Amino acid sequence: METAFHDLLRRMPKAELHIHIEGSLEPELLFALARRNGVALAHADVQALRAAYAFSDLQSFLDIYYAGAAVLLHERDFHDLAWAYLQRAAADGVVRAEIFFDPQTHTERGVPFAAVIQGLASACRRAEAELGLSAALILCFLRHLSEASAQATLEQALPWRQHFIAVGLDSSERGHPPEKFARVFARCRELGLRVVAHAGEEGPPAYIESALDVLQVERIDHGVRCLEDPALVQRLATARTPLTVCPLSNVKLRVFDTLADHCLPALLDAGLCATINSDDPAYFGGYLLKNFVETFQALPQLGARQAHGLARNSLQASFAADADKARWLAALDDCFAGLI
Ligand code: ADE
Ligand code: ZN
Repeated sequence: METAFHDLLRRMPKAELHIHIEGSLEPELLFALARRNGVALAHADVQALRAAYAFSDLQSFLDIYYAGAAVLLHERDFHDLAWAYLQRAAADGVVRAEIFFDPQTHTERGVPFAAVIQGLASACRRAEAELGLSAALILCFLRHLSEASAQATLEQALPWRQHFIAVGLDSSERGHPPEKFARVFARCRELGLRVVAHAGEEGPPAYIESALDVLQVERIDHGVRCLEDPALVQRLATARTPLTVCPLSNVKLRVFDTLADHCLPALLDAGLCATINSDDPAYFGGYLLKNFVETFQALPQLGARQAHGLARNSLQASFAADADKARWLAALDDCFAGLI
């Protein structure tokens, strides 16, 4: 790729809307935290751990991802984790990050909810102050656990309501349809929380439909399997429902064989509000800029017009204040002046 285009992809203001903070835990930090906290690890060193990052599907990844999170114990650990991600995001030209966290992964191990949210929230405040990056948190319920566990997690979270803007739904998709969480999402909406859900990553298009109809989500995380249902594509396009697509993740988890086979061009051609995101960058080989660069390299039909459209979609689809969105969108247009 030409240096000038690479530089444009980096400089263009963009939002990252699909990043699991636990999935940004780099092996180096994982080992440092294990040492700091006296946690024993199954792998001998960073190299051996990285060698284990060969996944056959979503579940094979989740098993390693949940095991890695065991080194996160104290508020400071969560701060260090999020701060490391936010610095990388700022370097990639991210102006807004909406960050998923999985409280049940930690509270089930005896880590206090307060330690998780205070560590993450202080890193978000620091990003605003030191990097000029606007960051917000999205609490995700683990769909392989029960509805009762999700309800209990929401109760634990309520004293910290001002520290997160939305709720999401993640973890093992197949066999755990959105309907399982209808009541807890209804309660979240009543509380004024924004709502999103993973759907149509490995699960069928029907899960995207029930995320929309039953959970009433405002964005679909992944959603790539919508293309199997033309009526659903039409619905998503008409409503301009954002899809937070994660190209490197999709290849690592074998949703697509290669980036050249990725459906992103088809999603854009269908008029969908697609965005590019990193999902779990420490496990899938790259942060947001690398997702853009490698996807554009693999798909020659994508150029400056699509880069502008994807960045614009991400800013419009974010839950940031309208005034901030307007400022970023104007800066984005300046970046592309004379190019599109
Ligand atoms: N948790 C972290 N990454 C995930 C993904 N890609 N899908 C579902 N749950 C996840
Ligand atoms: Zn995800």
